[in-house]
Amino acid sequence: MKKKNVFARGLFFSVSCLFLLSCNTSPKSVVDINKQFAFAAQQTEGLLKNLCDTALQFPLSINSDGNLKTVGIYNWTSGFFPGNLWYIYEYTQDPKWKEEALKWTHKLEPIQYFTRHHDIGFMMYCSYGNAYRITGNEAYKDILVNSAKSLCTRYYPDAGIIRSWNYRKSRKGYDWHCPVIIDNMMNIELLFFASKVTGDDYYKNIAISHAKKTIQNQLRDDFSSYHLVNYDTITGIATGKGTWQGYADNSTWSRGQAWGIYGYTLTYRETKDPEFLDVARKMADFFINHPNLPEDKIPYWDFNAGEEGYVPDFVYDTNIYPVPPRDVSAAAVTCSALLELSTFLGEDGKKYYQTAEKMLQSMTSPTYMANKGENGNFMLKHFVGSLPAQATAKRNEPGKGEVDNPCVYADYYYMEALLRYKRLLEGKTVI
Ligand code: GLY
Repeated sequence: MKKKNVFARGLFFSVSCLFLLSCNTSPKSVVDINKQFAFAAQQTEGLLKNLCDTALQFPLSINSDGNLKTVGIYNWTSGFFPGNLWYIYEYTQDPKWKEEALKWTHKLEPIQYFTRHHDIGFMMYCSYGNAYRITGNEAYKDILVNSAKSLCTRYYPDAGIIRSWNYRKSRKGYDWHCPVIIDNMMNIELLFFASKVTGDDYYKNIAISHAKKTIQNQLRDDFSSYHLVNYDTITGIATGKGTWQGYADNSTWSRGQAWGIYGYTLTYRETKDPEFLDVARKMADFFINHPNLPEDKIPYWDFNAGEEGYVPDFVYDTNIYPVPPRDVSAAAVTCSALLELSTFLGEDGKKYYQTAEKMLQSMTSPTYMANKGENGNFMLKHFVGSLPAQATAKRNEPGKGEVDNPCVYADYYYMEALLRYKRLLEGKTVI
């Protein structure tokens, strides 16, 4: 009798285990994250072979001859390569990646005092921000706070905005004395960080003022975005609205919309002000519900390129671009943002999460993912830097606008999205 009981219990346990295994409810990844980070490491090893350890040159893309295109430390993209190294280290935990990440991050130390454009947020938060998050080194905190102070020198208190670029003339000949671009919503993450670590709301208040002013002037009623708004720095009145990298003044440049979705999502994370969540969501809705968004969810570089009612800001040659090129970076940025946005919306978050999954699948497919050793050793293909820059470039400036190229920051946001996705699958918070 006793023996029979033991046998029955054993049988019950085995059947239960089998049952539990067969109905394992933990969500399944739609992409092979491990494989993608192994590939990221392989490609980045290839990139490092073409770079000089001691030179202050950072990879951006490839030139028209297929050779690596690098930029100096003052270029707005310089922080992304160190960021990529940190993401590979974060996933692999291989100390060799930490060593590289430290080396490339430290090259940017002088940037903490840089005030000539607004992109110090991108440059320092993607490099030193990740370095601080991952290593906890207090010296990095001070460098980041100095960087935030530098960004704040561009704030005009009477107007309530942070000036993006210094004076420039528009292609139509307008004077832009205080141009603000939607991209600037990304730089304010550095300011929220500075307030958190110093306990001083000065930085955060500037970030909030900038975010509110941007809602007032940079967004249209349908929550699409102008790329650029020019301000009067004394009255704060928007004196002009247009584009620099998009198709037309009234069009929606895809990456600009992506920066907005990401920027308002992070602003909600940092403030918990429902107005910012509402804006993030509506900007995301514009993007994901747009009739011109292709089935694979990788947008054309501008939502309105070639459409009636939109007059291009430059000569747009439909023989060269019979179909508008895609911009995979706009998808990568949006994908990472949607994953975070989905966590703030309960059941309603599902559609943003599912769209992000679809984007991850598309980006990971051979259409967008390079083969080993190709694509200048970057990961993603089909990025657009600035189509107007390419279209208006002189003959001796080939590849100026990086149209249909790879790009360091498309890879950055792709890897960030993979890491965020992995955390969500493991039941953790997104960051
Ligand atoms: N922030 C510049 C760009 O997105 O091209």
